[in-house]
Amino acid sequence: MQRRSFLKSAATLAAAPALSSLFDSSAQLPAITGTPARFPEGFLWGTATAAYQVEGAVHADGRGPSVWDTFSHTPGKTFHNETADVTDDDFHRYKQDVALMKDLGVQGYRFSIAWPRVFPQGTGTPNPKGLDFYKRLLDELQAANIQPVCTLFHWDLPQALQDKGGWTNPAIGHAFADYAAYTVSQLSDRITHWMTINEFGSYIDAGYGEGISAPGLRLPRAELMQTRHLALLGHGLAVQAIRAAAKNPVEVGLAHDAPGAMPAIEDPAHIRAAEIAFREINAQYLTAIMEGRYTDRYLHTLGADAPHFTDAELKIISTPLDFLGINIYTTQEVIPAPAPDHFLQVPRPASYPHAASRDWLFFNPQATYWTPKLVSTLWGVKKIYITENGYSSDDVLRVDAQNPGGRVLDTDRILYLRNYLVQLQRGIADGVPVHGYFLWSLLDNFEWASGFSKRFGLTYVDFQTEKRTPKLSFDFYRHVIQTNSVF
Ligand code: BG6
Repeated sequence: MQRRSFLKSAATLAAAPALSSLFDSSAQLPAITGTPARFPEGFLWGTATAAYQVEGAVHADGRGPSVWDTFSHTPGKTFHNETADVTDDDFHRYKQDVALMKDLGVQGYRFSIAWPRVFPQGTGTPNPKGLDFYKRLLDELQAANIQPVCTLFHWDLPQALQDKGGWTNPAIGHAFADYAAYTVSQLSDRITHWMTINEFGSYIDAGYGEGISAPGLRLPRAELMQTRHLALLGHGLAVQAIRAAAKNPVEVGLAHDAPGAMPAIEDPAHIRAAEIAFREINAQYLTAIMEGRYTDRYLHTLGADAPHFTDAELKIISTPLDFLGINIYTTQEVIPAPAPDHFLQVPRPASYPHAASRDWLFFNPQATYWTPKLVSTLWGVKKIYITENGYSSDDVLRVDAQNPGGRVLDTDRILYLRNYLVQLQRGIADGVPVHGYFLWSLLDNFEWASGFSKRFGLTYVDFQTEKRTPKLSFDFYRHVIQTNSVF
C-alpha cells in the first residue's frame, strides 16, 4: 500500500464507530486461530529493576553516598544534570510497586541491593537499618507470591571505596566478597537466586575508560585492562563467598550483557564465524569466566597493556556458576572473513531500525535466539536466565475522553517484545536451556547518564507526582504470562 492510500484508509477508520460499540458483551468474540509459540511449563516470567535507578531516598536510614550520587551531582555528567535522589521513590512506594507486579502476573522480581545501604563506608560495620528495607520488600514479595532474584552489585559502589581507588584497587575484590557474604548471611533464608555483578563493561569500560558513567574516569589502557581483571576477580571471590555464607541451598550466577554476534545468514559458514566472533568479542569478561583463560588473540592484541594475572586468580574467576544471566538488548551480524580473524562484524547501515536509545539499542530480535544459543553451544551452559530485555520508546501519555488519566499506547515496545519473545521461544524449542525472562523494566526510571530522558518501563511514571500508569505493553506482557505463549 502506498503511504498516501494508507492515510486515506486511516481516515476511513477514524470515521468508523467507536470500538467499544463493536464489542458489546453479548457479542461472540472471534476465536483465535493459529499456533502460538509456547513456553515450557514452569518458565519463570519476571521483571527487573536496580537499586539506584528506582529507590531514591538516598539519605534514608544511614545509607552512605555512592559513586552515582557523586557523578550525577557533578554538573554536565547526566542529561539535564538529573540525579536519582528521588527517581521512582520505590524506597517508600515499594508496596505499590509489588502490587503492580502482582497485577502484571510476574512470578519473579530481579532487584539489586545498594551496597552503600548495607555498608555505608563500603566495609567495616554493617548498617542493619539499610538491610531492613530489603527485608520489608521481601515480606511484600512473599505475600504476593513473587520470587526474589537478587543482584549484589548494580554499579552503586560506596563512594568511600572509590576514594581508595574503587575497582582499580586490588583490595576491592575482598571488600565486595565481604559485603556479599554478610548480605547473603542475612537474607539467604528468603532469597535462593543470587547474582554477583551486573554488566562489567557498563561500569568498568564506561566508568573507568570512557568516563561516561560513574566514577567518570579515563584511565590509560593498561590500567583499564587491569581494572577489568580485578572486576572479574571480585566476581569470582563473591561467588565463593555467597556459597560459603548461605544458610540454605542457593544458586549463584551473574548478569552480563555479552556483546552479541549472530550469523547474518543461517548457514554453517556464517554460524561458525558467529561462534568465533562471540568468543573473541567477549574475551575480556565472559570468555574468561567460562574458560578460565584469556584468549590468545585478546592478550596478543593488548600487547604490553595486557592484564597481569596468576593461574590461581583465573581459577577463582572461573569458579563454576549455577546459572548464567544474560542481559539482551541487541546483537550484531557477523559474516565469515579470511584468517586470522575469520569473522567480520558488519557495520550497521544508518537506516538500521532502533529504539529511542538511538545510539545503541538496535532492533534485532534474533538476539534472544543467538546469544543464549551461542553460550550454550560454546560453553555447555546448562541454565540460562534472560536477566534483562527491554526497549526505550518515545512514550507519550495521551489523555482523551475515555482515558482522562492518560494512557501510553506503546505499540513499538510491543513490536519489539513480541519479536524478541518469538525468537527466545525458538531457541528453547531447539533445546537452549533458558529457564526464565526478566523484562527491563517494571517502571520508567533513572537511566544512568540518560537521566529520565529514556523510558524503558511497562509502567509510565510521572516523575513530578510519582503517579504510575501501566502502558499498553503492560497488558501485552500480562497476556504473554497468562497464556505462557506469544503470537
Ligand atoms: C542495562 C542496565 O545495561 O541497560 C540497566 O543493566 C539499564 O541498568 C538498561 O537501565 C538500559 O540502559 P541505559 O543505558 O539506557 O540506562
